Amino acid sequence: MKTRLTLLAALGLAVGLTAGLASADEDAELVIDGEKLVTKLEAPEDHPLSEVLSGWRFRNTETQALQIDDFDNPGFVFVELAEELWETAAGSSGQSCADCHGEVESLAGLRASMPKWNEAAGEPWTLEDWINWSRQEHQGAEPWKWESQEMLSMTALIGLQSRGEAVAVDIEGPMAPWYERGKELYYTRVGQLDMACAHCHEGNYGNMIRADHLSQGQINGFPVYRLKWQGLGSIHRRFKGCMENIRATPYKRGSDEFTALELYLAWRGQGLSVETPSVRN
Ligand code: HEC
Ligand code: HEC
Repeated sequence: MKTRLTLLAALGLAVGLTAGLASADEDAELVIDGEKLVTKLEAPEDHPLSEVLSGWRFRNTETQALQIDDFDNPGFVFVELAEELWETAAGSSGQSCADCHGEVESLAGLRASMPKWNEAAGEPWTLEDWINWSRQEHQGAEPWKWESQEMLSMTALIGLQSRGEAVAVDIEGPMAPWYERGKELYYTRVGQLDMACAHCHEGNYGNMIRADHLSQGQINGFPVYRLKWQGLGSIHRRFKGCMENIRATPYKRGSDEFTALELYLAWRGQGLSVETPSVRN
Protein backbone atom coordinates (compact mmCIF):
# COMPACT_ATOMS: atom_id res chain seq x y z
CA MET A 1 0.00 0.00 0.00
CA LYS A 2 2.85 2.36 0.82
CA THR A 3 4.32 2.18 -2.67
CA ARG A 4 0.91 2.66 -4.21
CA LEU A 5 0.30 5.78 -2.17
CA THR A 6 3.72 7.25 -2.88
CA LEU A 7 3.21 6.69 -6.57
CA LEU A 8 -0.26 8.13 -6.34
CA ALA A 9 1.06 11.29 -4.71
CA ALA A 10 3.69 11.75 -7.39
CA LEU A 11 1.31 11.04 -10.23
CA GLY A 12 -1.49 13.07 -8.72
CA LEU A 13 0.44 16.25 -9.38
CA ALA A 14 0.95 15.37 -13.02
CA VAL A 15 -2.39 13.98 -14.10
CA GLY A 16 -4.93 14.64 -11.39
CA LEU A 17 -5.22 11.26 -9.72
CA THR A 18 -7.32 10.93 -6.61
CA ALA A 19 -8.21 7.99 -4.44
CA GLY A 20 -11.89 8.72 -4.63
CA LEU A 21 -15.01 6.69 -4.35
CA ALA A 22 -16.25 5.65 -7.72
CA SER A 23 -19.86 5.09 -8.61
CA ALA A 24 -19.14 1.68 -10.10
CA ASP A 25 -20.55 -1.37 -8.42
CA GLU A 26 -17.42 -3.47 -8.16
CA ASP A 27 -19.31 -6.47 -6.88
CA ALA A 28 -21.74 -6.59 -9.77
CA GLU A 29 -21.65 -9.67 -11.98
CA LEU A 30 -21.86 -9.68 -15.74
CA VAL A 31 -24.57 -12.09 -16.80
CA ILE A 32 -25.70 -12.00 -20.42
CA ASP A 33 -28.57 -14.21 -21.56
CA GLY A 34 -28.18 -16.31 -18.44
CA GLU A 35 -24.47 -16.86 -19.02
CA LYS A 36 -22.13 -15.56 -16.34
CA LEU A 37 -18.95 -14.10 -17.76
CA VAL A 38 -15.69 -14.18 -15.82
CA THR A 39 -14.85 -10.56 -14.98
CA LYS A 40 -12.72 -11.29 -11.92
CA LEU A 41 -10.31 -14.06 -11.07
CA GLU A 42 -7.32 -14.77 -8.94
CA ALA A 43 -4.15 -14.25 -10.96
CA PRO A 44 -1.80 -17.18 -11.59
CA GLU A 45 1.48 -17.29 -9.66
CA ASP A 46 3.78 -15.74 -12.25
CA HIS A 47 1.44 -12.78 -12.72
CA PRO A 48 2.26 -9.19 -11.68
CA LEU A 49 -1.28 -8.65 -10.32
CA SER A 50 -3.00 -10.46 -7.48
CA GLU A 51 -6.37 -10.47 -9.24
CA VAL A 52 -7.35 -9.98 -12.83
CA LEU A 53 -10.32 -7.67 -13.39
CA SER A 54 -12.28 -6.80 -16.48
CA GLY A 55 -12.75 -3.13 -17.33
CA TRP A 56 -16.50 -3.76 -17.08
CA ARG A 57 -16.21 -3.85 -13.29
CA PHE A 58 -14.91 -0.28 -13.23
CA ARG A 59 -17.70 1.30 -15.20
CA ASN A 60 -20.70 2.93 -13.58
CA THR A 61 -23.99 1.09 -13.28
CA GLU A 62 -25.55 2.77 -16.33
CA THR A 63 -22.64 1.82 -18.59
CA GLN A 64 -22.52 -1.67 -17.09
CA ALA A 65 -26.23 -2.12 -17.81
CA LEU A 66 -25.74 -1.38 -21.52
CA GLN A 67 -23.59 -4.50 -21.78
CA ILE A 68 -25.92 -6.80 -19.90
CA ASP A 69 -28.59 -6.80 -22.59
CA ASP A 70 -27.67 -7.23 -26.25
CA PHE A 71 -30.71 -5.16 -27.24
CA ASP A 72 -29.35 -2.19 -25.30
CA ASN A 73 -25.74 -2.73 -26.39
CA PRO A 74 -25.04 -0.19 -29.16
CA GLY A 75 -22.21 -2.42 -30.41
CA PHE A 76 -24.81 -4.77 -31.88
CA VAL A 77 -25.70 -2.28 -34.61
CA PHE A 78 -22.23 -3.06 -35.98
CA VAL A 79 -22.55 -6.79 -35.40
CA GLU A 80 -25.64 -6.70 -37.61
CA LEU A 81 -23.78 -4.71 -40.23
CA ALA A 82 -21.07 -7.37 -40.25
CA GLU A 83 -23.65 -10.14 -40.58
CA GLU A 84 -24.60 -8.54 -43.90
CA LEU A 85 -20.96 -8.16 -44.91
CA TRP A 86 -20.38 -11.82 -44.10
CA GLU A 87 -22.96 -12.73 -46.74
CA THR A 88 -21.85 -10.21 -49.36
CA ALA A 89 -19.76 -11.36 -52.32
CA ALA A 90 -16.66 -9.26 -52.98
CA GLY A 91 -13.35 -9.19 -54.83
CA SER A 92 -12.08 -11.19 -57.78
CA SER A 93 -13.27 -14.50 -56.27
CA GLY A 94 -16.84 -13.23 -56.39
CA GLN A 95 -17.39 -15.03 -53.10
CA SER A 96 -18.58 -13.97 -49.69
CA CYS A 97 -16.99 -14.91 -46.37
CA ALA A 98 -19.96 -17.26 -45.91
CA ASP A 99 -19.34 -19.02 -49.24
CA CYS A 100 -16.00 -20.28 -47.96
CA HIS A 101 -16.37 -20.26 -44.18
CA GLY A 102 -20.01 -21.22 -43.80
CA GLU A 103 -21.54 -20.00 -40.57
CA VAL A 104 -19.54 -17.36 -38.73
CA GLU A 105 -19.71 -19.66 -35.67
CA SER A 106 -16.97 -21.66 -37.39
CA LEU A 107 -14.58 -18.90 -36.22
CA ALA A 108 -15.46 -19.40 -32.55
CA GLY A 109 -12.42 -19.36 -30.30
CA LEU A 110 -10.33 -17.19 -32.59
CA ARG A 111 -10.69 -13.93 -30.62
CA ALA A 112 -9.67 -15.66 -27.39
CA SER A 113 -6.33 -16.72 -28.88
CA MET A 114 -5.33 -13.45 -30.55
CA PRO A 115 -2.70 -12.43 -31.47
CA LYS A 116 -1.70 -15.79 -32.93
CA TRP A 117 1.49 -16.96 -34.61
CA ASN A 118 1.56 -17.02 -38.40
CA GLU A 119 4.10 -19.53 -39.57
CA ALA A 120 4.43 -18.29 -43.15
CA ALA A 121 4.86 -14.65 -42.13
CA GLY A 122 7.10 -15.52 -39.18
CA GLU A 123 5.27 -13.13 -36.85
CA PRO A 124 2.16 -12.98 -34.68
CA TRP A 125 -0.98 -11.67 -36.32
CA THR A 126 -3.90 -9.80 -34.81
CA LEU A 127 -7.49 -10.56 -35.78
CA GLU A 128 -7.38 -7.58 -38.16
CA ASP A 129 -4.31 -9.07 -39.86
CA TRP A 130 -5.99 -12.46 -40.35
CA ILE A 131 -9.12 -10.88 -41.79
CA ASN A 132 -7.22 -8.71 -44.24
CA TRP A 133 -5.00 -11.59 -45.31
CA SER A 134 -8.04 -13.70 -46.11
CA ARG A 135 -9.70 -10.83 -47.95
CA GLN A 136 -6.65 -10.38 -50.15
CA GLU A 137 -5.42 -13.95 -50.44
CA HIS A 138 -8.72 -15.83 -50.73
CA GLN A 139 -11.42 -13.33 -51.58
CA GLY A 140 -9.28 -11.27 -53.94
CA ALA A 141 -10.56 -8.07 -52.36
CA GLU A 142 -8.96 -4.87 -51.08
CA PRO A 143 -7.85 -4.91 -47.44
CA TRP A 144 -9.99 -2.92 -45.02
CA LYS A 145 -8.51 0.01 -43.15
CA TRP A 146 -7.81 -0.80 -39.50
CA GLU A 147 -10.38 1.61 -38.13
CA SER A 148 -12.92 1.32 -40.94
CA GLN A 149 -16.55 0.57 -40.16
CA GLU A 150 -16.19 -2.73 -42.02
CA MET A 151 -13.14 -3.92 -40.09
CA LEU A 152 -14.52 -2.84 -36.71
CA SER A 153 -17.84 -4.48 -37.41
CA MET A 154 -16.26 -7.72 -38.66
CA THR A 155 -13.92 -7.96 -35.64
CA ALA A 156 -16.99 -7.42 -33.43
CA LEU A 157 -18.95 -10.18 -35.16
CA ILE A 158 -16.04 -12.64 -35.12
CA GLY A 159 -15.17 -11.67 -31.53
CA LEU A 160 -18.75 -12.27 -30.44
CA GLN A 161 -18.39 -15.92 -31.50
CA SER A 162 -15.87 -16.30 -28.67
CA ARG A 163 -17.91 -14.44 -26.05
CA GLY A 164 -17.65 -16.25 -22.74
CA GLU A 165 -14.49 -18.10 -23.72
CA ALA A 166 -11.42 -17.57 -21.57
CA VAL A 167 -8.64 -15.46 -23.05
CA ALA A 168 -5.66 -17.76 -23.58
CA VAL A 169 -2.74 -16.70 -25.76
CA ASP A 170 0.35 -18.65 -26.66
CA ILE A 171 3.54 -16.94 -25.47
CA GLU A 172 5.89 -19.86 -26.02
CA GLY A 173 8.44 -20.59 -28.72
CA PRO A 174 8.61 -17.91 -31.41
CA MET A 175 5.99 -15.87 -29.53
CA ALA A 176 8.33 -15.45 -26.53
CA PRO A 177 10.38 -12.51 -27.88
CA TRP A 178 7.14 -10.72 -28.83
CA TYR A 179 5.83 -11.22 -25.32
CA GLU A 180 9.09 -9.82 -23.90
CA ARG A 181 8.91 -6.83 -26.22
CA GLY A 182 5.30 -6.14 -25.18
CA LYS A 183 6.22 -6.39 -21.53
CA GLU A 184 9.09 -3.98 -22.01
CA LEU A 185 6.80 -1.48 -23.74
CA TYR A 186 4.26 -1.82 -20.93
CA TYR A 187 6.80 -0.80 -18.29
CA THR A 188 8.70 1.85 -20.30
CA ARG A 189 8.08 5.48 -19.41
CA VAL A 190 7.21 7.59 -22.42
CA GLY A 191 5.97 11.03 -23.32
CA GLN A 192 6.16 14.42 -21.68
CA LEU A 193 4.46 13.02 -18.59
CA ASP A 194 7.14 10.32 -18.44
CA MET A 195 4.71 7.56 -17.58
CA ALA A 196 4.34 3.89 -18.43
CA CYS A 197 1.12 1.92 -18.94
CA ALA A 198 1.92 0.27 -15.60
CA HIS A 199 1.74 3.53 -13.66
CA CYS A 200 -1.95 3.85 -14.32
CA HIS A 201 -3.16 0.33 -15.03
CA GLU A 202 -1.05 -1.66 -12.57
CA GLY A 203 -0.18 0.81 -9.81
CA ASN A 204 -3.38 2.82 -9.70
CA TYR A 205 -6.34 0.81 -10.92
CA GLY A 206 -9.33 1.47 -8.71
CA ASN A 207 -8.35 5.12 -8.27
CA MET A 208 -9.95 8.05 -10.03
CA ILE A 209 -8.08 9.96 -12.69
CA ARG A 210 -10.04 13.17 -13.11
CA ALA A 211 -13.58 11.88 -13.69
CA ASP A 212 -12.52 8.43 -14.89
CA HIS A 213 -12.28 5.25 -12.83
CA LEU A 214 -8.98 3.58 -13.69
CA SER A 215 -9.15 -0.07 -14.69
CA GLN A 216 -6.40 -2.58 -15.37
CA GLY A 217 -6.52 -1.66 -19.05
CA GLN A 218 -7.62 -5.13 -20.12
CA ILE A 219 -8.44 -5.90 -23.76
CA ASN A 220 -10.93 -8.77 -23.41
CA GLY A 221 -13.87 -6.60 -24.52
CA PHE A 222 -12.53 -5.31 -27.84
CA PRO A 223 -13.58 -3.91 -30.15
CA VAL A 224 -15.46 -1.82 -27.58
CA TYR A 225 -18.36 0.51 -28.13
CA ARG A 226 -17.26 3.73 -26.47
CA LEU A 227 -19.92 6.26 -25.60
CA LYS A 228 -17.30 8.98 -26.06
CA TRP A 229 -16.48 7.75 -29.57
CA GLN A 230 -20.12 7.11 -30.45
CA GLY A 231 -18.90 3.99 -32.16
CA LEU A 232 -16.62 0.99 -32.01
CA GLY A 233 -12.89 1.33 -31.51
CA SER A 234 -10.04 -1.13 -31.87
CA ILE A 235 -7.48 -2.18 -29.28
CA HIS A 236 -4.79 -0.20 -31.09
CA ARG A 237 -6.93 2.94 -31.13
CA ARG A 238 -7.18 2.73 -27.34
CA PHE A 239 -3.41 2.24 -27.03
CA LYS A 240 -2.91 5.27 -29.24
CA GLY A 241 -5.30 7.36 -27.14
CA CYS A 242 -3.60 6.41 -23.89
CA MET A 243 -0.19 7.29 -25.33
CA GLU A 244 -1.49 10.63 -26.57
CA ASN A 245 -2.92 11.36 -23.11
CA ILE A 246 0.55 11.14 -21.62
CA ARG A 247 1.81 13.24 -24.55
CA ALA A 248 3.86 10.50 -26.12
CA THR A 249 4.16 9.89 -29.85
CA PRO A 250 1.96 6.83 -30.37
CA TYR A 251 2.92 3.86 -32.49
CA LYS A 252 0.80 3.14 -35.54
CA ARG A 253 -2.19 0.82 -35.56
CA GLY A 254 -0.96 -2.55 -36.76
CA SER A 255 2.68 -1.78 -35.87
CA ASP A 256 4.92 -4.47 -34.41
CA GLU A 257 5.00 -2.48 -31.16
CA PHE A 258 1.21 -2.48 -30.77
CA THR A 259 0.98 -6.16 -31.74
CA ALA A 260 3.57 -6.98 -29.06
CA LEU A 261 1.67 -4.86 -26.50
CA GLU A 262 -1.57 -6.56 -27.49
CA LEU A 263 -0.01 -9.96 -26.94
CA TYR A 264 1.35 -8.95 -23.55
CA LEU A 265 -1.99 -7.46 -22.46
CA ALA A 266 -3.87 -10.54 -23.64
CA TRP A 267 -1.53 -12.57 -21.42
CA ARG A 268 -2.22 -10.24 -18.47
CA GLY A 269 -5.94 -10.80 -19.04
CA GLN A 270 -5.74 -14.59 -19.32
CA GLY A 271 -8.78 -16.31 -17.88
CA LEU A 272 -11.11 -13.34 -18.34
CA SER A 273 -14.06 -14.03 -20.61
CA VAL A 274 -14.09 -12.50 -24.04
CA GLU A 275 -16.77 -9.77 -23.78
CA THR A 276 -16.87 -8.57 -27.36
CA PRO A 277 -18.51 -6.19 -28.07
CA SER A 278 -18.23 -4.50 -24.68
CA VAL A 279 -19.45 -1.02 -23.75
CA ARG A 280 -17.24 1.62 -22.15
CA ASN A 281 -17.65 5.31 -21.41
C1 HEC B 1 -12.51 -17.89 -51.38
C2 HEC B 1 -12.69 -18.42 -50.05
C3 HEC B 1 -12.60 -17.43 -48.88
C4 HEC B 1 -13.25 -16.24 -48.75
C5 HEC B 1 -14.17 -15.53 -49.72
C6 HEC B 1 -12.90 -15.76 -47.42
N1 HEC B 1 -12.08 -16.63 -46.79
FE1 HEC B 1 -11.27 -16.43 -44.95
N2 HEC B 1 -10.14 -18.09 -45.22
C7 HEC B 1 -10.21 -18.91 -46.32
C8 HEC B 1 -9.22 -19.96 -46.18
C9 HEC B 1 -8.98 -21.09 -47.16
C10 HEC B 1 -8.57 -19.73 -44.94
C11 HEC B 1 -7.42 -20.54 -44.33
C12 HEC B 1 -7.89 -21.84 -43.78
C13 HEC B 1 -8.78 -21.60 -42.61
O1 HEC B 1 -8.32 -21.15 -41.59
O2 HEC B 1 -10.01 -21.88 -42.75
C14 HEC B 1 -9.17 -18.55 -44.37
C15 HEC B 1 -8.83 -18.01 -43.15
C16 HEC B 1 -9.48 -16.96 -42.53
C17 HEC B 1 -9.23 -16.50 -41.20
C18 HEC B 1 -8.23 -17.08 -40.22
C19 HEC B 1 -8.89 -18.23 -39.51
C20 HEC B 1 -8.02 -18.96 -38.52
O3 HEC B 1 -8.54 -19.87 -37.89
O4 HEC B 1 -6.85 -18.62 -38.36
C21 HEC B 1 -10.09 -15.46 -40.95
C22 HEC B 1 -10.21 -14.64 -39.67
C23 HEC B 1 -10.88 -15.28 -42.16
N3 HEC B 1 -10.49 -16.20 -43.10
C24 HEC B 1 -11.87 -14.33 -42.29
C25 HEC B 1 -12.55 -14.09 -43.48
C26 HEC B 1 -13.51 -13.02 -43.65
C27 HEC B 1 -13.96 -12.05 -42.57
C28 HEC B 1 -13.93 -13.08 -44.94
C29 HEC B 1 -14.90 -12.17 -45.65
C30 HEC B 1 -14.57 -10.74 -45.59
C31 HEC B 1 -13.22 -14.20 -45.57
N4 HEC B 1 -12.40 -14.79 -44.65
C32 HEC B 1 -13.39 -14.59 -46.88
C33 HEC B 1 -11.04 -18.76 -47.39
C34 HEC B 1 -11.85 -17.66 -47.65
C1 HEC C 1 -2.31 8.54 -17.21
C2 HEC C 1 -2.90 7.24 -17.00
C3 HEC C 1 -2.86 6.23 -18.13
C4 HEC C 1 -1.75 5.67 -18.73
C5 HEC C 1 -0.30 5.97 -18.47
C6 HEC C 1 -2.27 4.70 -19.67
N1 HEC C 1 -3.62 4.66 -19.64
FE1 HEC C 1 -4.81 3.29 -20.54
N2 HEC C 1 -6.46 4.19 -19.75
C7 HEC C 1 -6.43 5.28 -18.92
C8 HEC C 1 -7.80 5.68 -18.60
C9 HEC C 1 -8.22 6.84 -17.69
C10 HEC C 1 -8.63 4.76 -19.26
C11 HEC C 1 -10.17 4.69 -19.23
C12 HEC C 1 -10.62 4.08 -17.94
C13 HEC C 1 -10.08 2.69 -17.77
O1 HEC C 1 -10.63 1.73 -18.35
O2 HEC C 1 -9.04 2.53 -17.08
C14 HEC C 1 -7.75 3.82 -19.96
C15 HEC C 1 -8.19 2.72 -20.69
C16 HEC C 1 -7.38 1.79 -21.28
C17 HEC C 1 -7.85 0.59 -21.94
C18 HEC C 1 -9.29 0.15 -22.11
C19 HEC C 1 -9.74 -0.82 -21.05
C20 HEC C 1 -11.14 -1.33 -21.24
O3 HEC C 1 -11.58 -2.16 -20.42
O4 HEC C 1 -11.83 -0.93 -22.18
C21 HEC C 1 -6.73 -0.06 -22.40
C22 HEC C 1 -6.71 -1.36 -23.17
C23 HEC C 1 -5.59 0.74 -22.03
N3 HEC C 1 -6.01 1.84 -21.34
C24 HEC C 1 -4.28 0.42 -22.34
C25 HEC C 1 -3.17 1.23 -22.04
C26 HEC C 1 -1.83 0.96 -22.49
C27 HEC C 1 -1.41 -0.21 -23.35
C28 HEC C 1 -1.05 1.96 -21.99
C29 HEC C 1 0.44 2.19 -22.23
C30 HEC C 1 0.81 2.41 -23.61
C31 HEC C 1 -1.91 2.84 -21.21
N4 HEC C 1 -3.19 2.37 -21.29
C32 HEC C 1 -1.47 3.93 -20.49
C33 HEC C 1 -5.33 5.91 -18.41
C34 HEC C 1 -4.03 5.59 -18.72
